[in-house]
Amino acid sequence: MTDLIRIVYISRATFPISKANDGIEPTVARILSTSRTNNRKNGLVGMLYYGDGCFFQCLEGETSKVQALYKTLLKDPRHKDLKVLASEPIKRLSFPDWSMKYVPVDEHMLKLLEEHGFDTFDPYRFDHHLVERVMQLLQGVPDPTIPVVEARASAPARTVLAMTDPHPDSPPPVPDKTAKLSLVISIVALVISGCALLIALGLV
Ligand SMILES: Cc1cc2nc3c(=O)[nH]c(=O)nc-3n(C[C@H](O)[C@H](O)[C@H](O)COP(=O)(O)O)c2cc1C
Repeated sequence: MTDLIRIVYISRATFPISKANDGIEPTVARILSTSRTNNRKNGLVGMLYYGDGCFFQCLEGETSKVQALYKTLLKDPRHKDLKVLASEPIKRLSFPDWSMKYVPVDEHMLKLLEEHGFDTFDPYRFDHHLVERVMQLLQGVPDPTIPVVEARASAPARTVLAMTDPHPDSPPPVPDKTAKLSLVISIVALVISGCALLIALGLV
């Protein structure tokens, strides 16, 4: 059986905090794009939160792969002050559908922080209990970035058609045949009704 591990670590972004409130920070979008490609290849999964200039990341997968990635992360100049909050063997993955789930700042996180007396996301001051609460919250929150990140990474001018995708690593959905059939039946019914009306009015 494969030996699986989960690590949770925090770090500080070295790039300036963006004032823009209308989407994902471009550097974070690039990190997500690379992470998703690499993690898919390496069988790693996880989740990344970014708020107030701090990262909070959970990584899961084969121990040797997770440890190798953490060594790479230590050398990445886009963040500093890496601190491991948890490192433990696990029996199964908590984010099996996510090569890297991204969770932006939202009202649930702000409420949780406020309940614990924080006015900013400062994970360096979180106790064990708050780390657990943050993990639970992040597992339940949807990721709104899948099309946004991939659109920005591959074609900056592409229109964003949808904001959510509950299974970003699944193949794209096939067209719904039932919906097409319903449409055809509706059109046929409409034509028959029209003919019946013409006959009833004595026009045919
Ligand atoms: C906060 C943060 C989180 C990252 N998470 C991942 C990750 O989950 N997987 C990954 O492959 N790279 C991640 N990276 C990027 C790596 O540090 C590194 O740049 C990347 O793995 C190099 O990939 P490449 O050799 O394909 O360019 C992250 C970087 C930062 C700053």
